[in-house]
Amino acid sequence: MSKENFKNNAKAVVSALSKYLDQCEEPSSPVIHQRPIFDILNKLNVEELIKTGDLDGPKLEKFTTDYLDETTKLHNPHYMAHQVSVPHTTGALGSFIDGLTNNAMAIYEMGPAATAIEYFMINWMLGKIGWKQAPIPGKPDDTTTNSHGSGVMTHGGSLANLTALVAARSAKFPNIWRDGNPGNIVVLVPEQSHYSLKRTVGIIGLGENNCISMPADEDGRVMAEKIPELIEKLKNDGKQIMAIVGNACGTAAGLYDPLDKIGEICNEQNIWFHVDAAHGAGAIICDEYRYLVKGIERADSVIWDAHKMFRTPILSAAVLVKNHHHIDHAFSQKASYLVHEKEQPGVDQMMRAVECTKSGLGLKMFMSIAAIGEDGLSDFISGRTKLAAQAANYLNTLNDFECPVMPETNILCFRIGNNDQRQLEIRKKLLKAGNFYISTTMYKNARWLRCAIMNPDTSFDDLKELFDEVREINTKLDI
Ligand SMILES: Cc1ncc(COP(=O)(O)O)c(C=O)c1O
Repeated sequence: MSKENFKNNAKAVVSALSKYLDQCEEPSSPVIHQRPIFDILNKLNVEELIKTGDLDGPKLEKFTTDYLDETTKLHNPHYMAHQVSVPHTTGALGSFIDGLTNNAMAIYEMGPAATAIEYFMINWMLGKIGWKQAPIPGKPDDTTTNSHGSGVMTHGGSLANLTALVAARSAKFPNIWRDGNPGNIVVLVPEQSHYSLKRTVGIIGLGENNCISMPADEDGRVMAEKIPELIEKLKNDGKQIMAIVGNACGTAAGLYDPLDKIGEICNEQNIWFHVDAAHGAGAIICDEYRYLVKGIERADSVIWDAHKMFRTPILSAAVLVKNHHHIDHAFSQKASYLVHEKEQPGVDQMMRAVECTKSGLGLKMFMSIAAIGEDGLSDFISGRTKLAAQAANYLNTLNDFECPVMPETNILCFRIGNNDQRQLEIRKKLLKAGNFYISTTMYKNARWLRCAIMNPDTSFDDLKELFDEVREINTKLDI
């Protein structure tokens, strides 16, 4: 394909995407409509296009427009379903640059620019947590000592949790990598932890039953004061504790665990402290909400998803460690054809990650944040958090709605009536109508409707409109 073709095609795709963004703002345009796979494939004419190989010019423009037509519209302010960012357009261009350059930057020589930016973003996150940043290769007069933080970006938070707990295992039980697991190692997690933690415990061979939930208060937050008793009991039962995990924040209702108290216990007892800040890392950079993550610096590892509250396109997550040795020695395998003694002006990230080939995850994170700046990002996060609280306060004034807890982040749970099945039926009808897209969750042994307010343009009026529509559907279900 000629470069002229590329320019014209890119122009056509960008023009279709711009129309798409305009369409997302139209009040009558559905946020979600799900048609059967067969219908979508037919409309996209995929059978013919894959044979002929001429996806170019007007055909490409038509294909793009048809494809966009069938997407779920995250840029529509009525998108409030899942913890997936509404990406900044500049961040999306980062994905485009990364796609075209395809610098698989797990080794420095395959992506110096991508590695440099990932390195910068890791240091930025380390600094925000309050940990010592890593020395920058090539920086004149760098006085960083041997003790500093480090990290690696991963394709998602689940993989980041896995990487962090492998680092914990290698630090606490270095022989397991070679000898296998003795069978009595446990990991303590919050009752409200993300399923990826239990899955990690299964994957790394500790056995799912050795993923133990800690006592929680009525809202599901870890009761730190009960941890010492649990530790004592587990030790008496012959268990060895590999790590304790704190939420910042939990997935269902978005509540933060008392990190400071959990961290204090872990530090005193020399237990690895891991903080899952996949969703709630926003509080780390937001002065107003920083108190929610007080004590996070006590952690040994933290995970942080940029593709949730940092306006970054999927996937872009990080696992960060206070002591760089822990990520450097997490995986002891060697791929000798890639990693050998070599003089190079940068660093290889591959020894720190599960992945071998890695995309430019730092680039899209950087471009998304640099487009709005740190203050803009902080305003976005605090604005979304305040909107969730405002909506909960409003719902609490109504007789027919109920919230299980005051939101601490942009996640709002609510329901109408007290029938679990009814909430599911309401959501089904809501999604079928297509005007709103929300999720549901189990929390406090009940089913709730759930909004994750990710879109910068979602307003209080949008939420009131949602509650009215929920009420209307509920009334009709009664008839
Ligand atoms: C607290 C928490 N941890 C981890 C994850 C997993 O992250 P990812 O979806 O990026 O794999 C999620 C996802 O929602 C989450 O809420």
